[in-house]
Amino acid sequence: MTHRGTLIGCGFFAENHMHGWADAAGAEIVAVCDLDRAKADAMAARFGIPAVYTDAAQMLSAEQPDFVDVATTVPSHRPLVELALSHGALTVCQKPFAETYADAKAMVDAADAAGKPLIIHENFRWEAPLMALKAALDSGVIGAPTYARLSFRHGYDVYANQPYLAQTEQFALMDVGLHLFDTARYLLGDVRDIHCRTQSLKPGIAGEDAFVATLRHQGGVVSTIECSFFSKIVPDPFPQTLAWIEGMDGTLELTGDYTLRLHKEGELTARNVEPDTPAWGGRPWHAVQDSVVAFQAHVVDVLDGRAEPQPSGAHNLETLAMALAAYRSAETGATVDLAAFIATGAV
Ligand SMILES: NC(=O)c1ccc[n+]([C@@H]2O[C@H](COP(=O)([O-])OP(=O)(O)OC[C@H]3O[C@@H](n4cnc5c(N)ncnc54)[C@H](O)[C@@H]3O)[C@@H](O)[C@H]2O)c1
Repeated sequence: MTHRGTLIGCGFFAENHMHGWADAAGAEIVAVCDLDRAKADAMAARFGIPAVYTDAAQMLSAEQPDFVDVATTVPSHRPLVELALSHGALTVCQKPFAETYADAKAMVDAADAAGKPLIIHENFRWEAPLMALKAALDSGVIGAPTYARLSFRHGYDVYANQPYLAQTEQFALMDVGLHLFDTARYLLGDVRDIHCRTQSLKPGIAGEDAFVATLRHQGGVVSTIECSFFSKIVPDPFPQTLAWIEGMDGTLELTGDYTLRLHKEGELTARNVEPDTPAWGGRPWHAVQDSVVAFQAHVVDVLDGRAEPQPSGAHNLETLAMALAAYRSAETGATVDLAAFIATGAV
């Protein structure tokens, strides 16, 4: 059975979504929508999509899709997600899920009321190198983890494709920070508390473009999560997430050349975990493009009832709370207890 889908938002990143849907067995995009007619027309022409709309409500009434892929920027997420769910569609929402916890919670409640899955497009956990790291960790080869570091530091000009990133007052934590926090939870479990320091380094931008956060996970693991969009590194590792996880019996390391290294019993072993570049893709984006294909194949699995959303809106609520708690920590200098932060409504 082929599930019929519609895409809302035909901007920069949506092109990866469209390629991913074209690659996915069991799903097809039957209509696309953008407020900007020219963008929607161009996307439809490029991918041979028969129907084009500028109004999402009109599109959903006319097409009655099985799933809706929301690929717009964050201000439109809540109304579009609620609209899609009100039409009984499985709904996929790009990150950041929402600007506020209240908006994200309203979308989770709308999914519950509709009885339909809400899946957040958190593709880092679908990146082949990070999945290989997770598999190695879960194999027990380094024993129980004790400490981890995730690092996303580069100087790639992200503003060329995403000019809105220079204008947002909440940038690094709400952009790549959310991906890294989701990855930290994926690898090491949920988080008890968080401490964070932010920096605004590139002249002229509105928000923070670097941060370092320290997390204490529920199981006792301590992790440091670092991100910078203003690092001068040769070769620039963008868009790789580098990782270092120490355990009772060894250390796993993901290096900037897609190598997964194991330090154990005085020996260093290594293997390449670089994904293939999709036929439509290109470097340095190939690992991201490959992860979109993997994520969207997962969405088809959810549509077919073979898998639970990874991650669901309900799961991603806590990831969003972590970013908001990190801002609170950066403002106050304090370590923020995540459960108390959520329970007291401080989010
Ligand atoms: N997962 C990743 O690796 C990754 C990478 C880049 C961007 N993103 C995320 O993808 C999202 C989109 O980013 P982008 O750079 O493609 O943005 P963009 O501005 O290039 O595109 C967004 C499009 O949505 C359209 N739009 C907005 N509101 C709409 C509405 N109500 N109805 C129909 N169309 C509407 C806009 O006209 C625009 O064309 C962002 O949330 C961003 O954070 C994710």
